[in-house]
Amino acid sequence: MYLFIGTAEDCDKKGALEIVNQINNKPDTILGLATGSTPVGMYQNLIKLYRDKKVSFSQVKTYNLDEYVGIPREHVCSYYYFMQENLFSHIDIPAENVSLPDGNAPDLEKECSDYEERIANSGGIDLQVLGIGHNGHIGFNEPNTPFESVTHLVDLTQSTIKANSRFFESEDQVPRQALSMGIKTIMQAKKILLFVKGADKADIIHKALKGPVTPEVPASVLQLHPNLHVYVDKAAAAKLK
Ligand code: F6R
Repeated sequence: MYLFIGTAEDCDKKGALEIVNQINNKPDTILGLATGSTPVGMYQNLIKLYRDKKVSFSQVKTYNLDEYVGIPREHVCSYYYFMQENLFSHIDIPAENVSLPDGNAPDLEKECSDYEERIANSGGIDLQVLGIGHNGHIGFNEPNTPFESVTHLVDLTQSTIKANSRFFESEDQVPRQALSMGIKTIMQAKKILLFVKGADKADIIHKALKGPVTPEVPASVLQLHPNLHVYVDKAAAAKLK
């Protein structure tokens, strides 16, 4: 495991540069992407590097980790909308190259198996961006999700609904379900970049990286990944030193 500890800005910068290097070495890179607060600054750095002509996304394909069930794509809280706002509309990635699970598909089970198949058929994810939830979730894989899980329909836990309610008008409006890549889907990525920020993540990142590998802490599975790069800001790294 490669572990970088620095300011949040340095994590964003270095992480973005690592992604740009990946794309410049393999222009048709398959990226796995995350939403949430954590990667926003890193995405801003990617946009800047694109504007400075250090990278082109014209051959890149992306697969997002997850999407809510039952809110329209145009809804400001959909992950589709988030990705357009925070990355896709600012770079030269062709619209047909970006994929998120479709939380409005008529048959959600079929959508999950199709999504998994599309990832595999594209050659698999070269580099997956991850954040971590306070309960150790990665994607929407909540505690006790089997390590063998592939893309699936998830009932969100109360703690995740509460954490995500900050983006909605009220907790009642947070969808109760989501589609998420599984833990096996994530672990099949050739390289994983995990970003962790803030004092409120200090406990969970310590557990995830230094504690036992257990489905109770989904992110602990990352200890078994052969090519894990972790970018932790100083506040979140308080217990790692
Ligand atoms: C987002 C995702 C989630 C977040 C996690 C941390 O696509 O899959 O696992 O990475 O909930 O969220 P933030 O970054 O908002 O603390």
